[in-house]
Amino acid sequence: MSGFAGLWAEIAPIGRADGGGYLRFALTEPELALRDWFRGQAARRDMTVTEDGNGNLFAWRGEPWAPGTVLTGSHFDSVPHGGGYDGPLGIVSAFLAVDRVPADRPIGIAAFVEEEGARFGVPCLGSRLLTGVMDPSRAAALTDRDGISFAEALGAVPAGRDARIGQIAAVVELHIEQGVALSAPVGVASAIWPHGRWRMDFTGVGDHAGTTRMTDRRDPMLTFAFTVLTANKEARLSGAHATVGRVQAEPNATNAIPSLVRGWLDARAADTATLDHLVDTVVKTATERAGRDGTQLVVTPESVTAEVSFDTALASRLSALLDGAPILPTGAGHDAGVLSAQVPTAMLFVRNPTGVSHSPAEHASDADCEAGVEALARVLADLTRT
Ligand code: GLV
Ligand code: MN
Ligand code: MN
Ligand code: MN
Repeated sequence: MSGFAGLWAEIAPIGRADGGGYLRFALTEPELALRDWFRGQAARRDMTVTEDGNGNLFAWRGEPWAPGTVLTGSHFDSVPHGGGYDGPLGIVSAFLAVDRVPADRPIGIAAFVEEEGARFGVPCLGSRLLTGVMDPSRAAALTDRDGISFAEALGAVPAGRDARIGQIAAVVELHIEQGVALSAPVGVASAIWPHGRWRMDFTGVGDHAGTTRMTDRRDPMLTFAFTVLTANKEARLSGAHATVGRVQAEPNATNAIPSLVRGWLDARAADTATLDHLVDTVVKTATERAGRDGTQLVVTPESVTAEVSFDTALASRLSALLDGAPILPTGAGHDAGVLSAQVPTAMLFVRNPTGVSHSPAEHASDADCEAGVEALARVLADLTRT
């Protein structure tokens, strides 16, 4: 039985970025290297590797998709300069946990593609395709920042829903906790906040920075800046979270008034009504402001994920099994949330001492990760007991 630190060290160098953190975008070279590593781990355990035509990779102990199988795992891809734990921890822990569960128990390990949406814009793309909530032709046409489509990166139009997901007895995803809410080594998820991404295109009139009178300008950067402040204020007022973490300007020149500013609003809240109210208020206020600035605003929802309440009985059972592990909600999205609509699903969280994530500073201690492996092994043994 090997320990956490040894296996973790095998993947730690893969995709490490100059400037800190990781660049492990879906279906790019580092992520493909991690998939090779996954195949190697499966082979060492005599597990059968399959793919589902959507970019998701599986290792099976027993027949692939056998009724009663418990599926675990997570994702390899990262946000730009993200931490190394968000995703891969759930896959490394899965292989180590499988080693600690009696050999006759049917377990699958999944590596879901494009969980972050960092390359093609829609998070949990692989699990959405697998469960049929994402149209394969829409997914095929999504493009990355270089104009490469998901279908091109995958080498095919995605296959879409695989009805065999309905044969899976339960899904358990282990993940690093991404805030400061967990003070025990391991916790159990109760819910995922509803959340989404809205692309905001602000257009105005590009012109010379030195010669255009201030009163003559139709500057979309001003409307954009006002909108960022509005989102922040409205989120604070309602206890929601709003972030604008990605922005593009055209022509993106120091000495030109931009003709276009494109920013992405990431908004999340504990309940749907609060989220809807936040987004509606931001869009309405920004549109009014655009009218005053002589600019235009078009808002396009890129992905909206409904509130997830994990199976309450399952969460309680796992908490009891894990000696009263705390049960907590999260504002982060996960493939487990998508799968929970069709399969009894639970999540285990491993303590994050600083709460920092989507950052090179993301960290969990080896001791807590080891506790996570042990917890996952207990859970898998319990859920596969016949
Ligand atoms: C993915 O990690 C997300 O919640 O943004
Ligand atoms: Mn993430
Ligand atoms: Mn993740
Ligand atoms: Mn996530």
